[in-house]
Amino acid sequence: MPNQPLTDYRPLFIGLDALIPIMDGNCRCYTNLDNAASTPPLKAVQQAVDDFLVYYSSVHRGTGFKSQLSTHAYEQARQIVMRFVGANSTDHTCIFGKNTTEAINKLARRLPFDPKRNIVLTSGMEHHSNDLPWRAVTQVIHIGLTPDGQLDEAELDTQLSRYADKVALVALTGASNVTGFINPIHRLAEKAHAVGALFLVDCAQLAPHRKIEMLRLDQPEHLDFITLSAHKMYAPFGTGALIGRKDIFEHGDPDMSGGGTVEIVTLDSVVWSAPPEREEAGSPNTVGAVALAAAIRQLESVGMPEVAHHEAALTRYALEGLSRIQGLKVFGDHDPSNADGRLGVIPIQLEHVTHFLAAAILGYEFGIGVRSGCFCAHPYILHLLGLSKEESAEVRRRMEAGDKSEMPGLIRASFGLYNTLEDVDTLLEALSRISKGDYKGDYIQNRATGEYSAVGWQPDFAAYFNL
Ligand SMILES: Cc1ncc(COP(=O)(O)O)c(C=O)c1O
Repeated sequence: MPNQPLTDYRPLFIGLDALIPIMDGNCRCYTNLDNAASTPPLKAVQQAVDDFLVYYSSVHRGTGFKSQLSTHAYEQARQIVMRFVGANSTDHTCIFGKNTTEAINKLARRLPFDPKRNIVLTSGMEHHSNDLPWRAVTQVIHIGLTPDGQLDEAELDTQLSRYADKVALVALTGASNVTGFINPIHRLAEKAHAVGALFLVDCAQLAPHRKIEMLRLDQPEHLDFITLSAHKMYAPFGTGALIGRKDIFEHGDPDMSGGGTVEIVTLDSVVWSAPPEREEAGSPNTVGAVALAAAIRQLESVGMPEVAHHEAALTRYALEGLSRIQGLKVFGDHDPSNADGRLGVIPIQLEHVTHFLAAAILGYEFGIGVRSGCFCAHPYILHLLGLSKEESAEVRRRMEAGDKSEMPGLIRASFGLYNTLEDVDTLLEALSRISKGDYKGDYIQNRATGEYSAVGWQPDFAAYFNL
């Protein structure tokens, strides 16, 4: 255990004391270690939403008190998000949308690429959301990785100088959703800017765990664009944001048009609004924006250095414990002394139990929620697992034939602010037992999905929630 007891942040969150059923007939509190996917809501978020809903009304186009108040709240939320990431309203705009995926797709459609000439440099460690949208609009080069899964910065340097005048954008993740590696974003941004490229950071993972500073555009290490998702920041109300250079959105047509995006429309012409309105077609998710801003306020009051410190202590403790379990391998960086410089996202493999089965047992028998598989980062997982081109092709062939039963993958445990050392102990105990074959259920696999279910046991969801 760490020398200093960790602060208990559980009271700030909703639902952590709720009991869930496990296979032996007992109930227990859920141990949620799937925060890299989505996080539980903060009470402060629920409170803000409750308070706001009393006055909720149409934004922007309404003239009554409630409409004006709703508009005020929506615009205040925008300012709070911008301040949180060190953006300023001279250089930047904040465009609300659903999530990071939507934000990156929007940017891909809005940057004026010449597909014959322009290249986007991304990497092999990206979530598909920071890879596929670029492939759809121009040529993409994936920067390679070191064997343990870190960005190969020397290769980035080589590609930047080789394609200097063609690289329109370098689009990299701030932190990996698989290994928790954090990229040196400001150093990389400076290199991108030196060849005239723009620099995007996918902050879906970074934003809930680290302070982000976009900096002013005249600083060489500034970030041109960042994206984030509120459901990973304890505010699951369907909002995300693209924050970035205002000048880019002052030109060209919006990627989606309709109500809210225009100053004036005639039957044969249109004058677009200034950003961000030009980029937010249709009625916005005002409640989601309020929720995100309330989560940010709470994170700021805890303090981002403390958030990072708390999660590093959990990660250190987990890596120490995992190293003592026989037949278990941690991918990426397994050194506990490096916990401060990474996120608490730990990819794990058990020698004798596949990731699909291990995840099912963790859920059914121990009440632990993790994620298993490839975490929307197929190329990265294949790299980490060291699969050859031929082996990867065979994986693809089996998938295309509708059989995921042998899909390569890992189990991922990921921490949030509310997790405790006891949560880590619960995981360690469960993994240690599973790796020894000490589990009770009889499991059957669905070959189409790869997932396992326990024979003869099915939780009664309707007893817990029903519409
Ligand atoms: C690094 C990273 N980028 C992008 C995404 C996509 O986020 P969303 O599903 O909120 O669009 C995720 C989600 O897991 C992620 O981890």
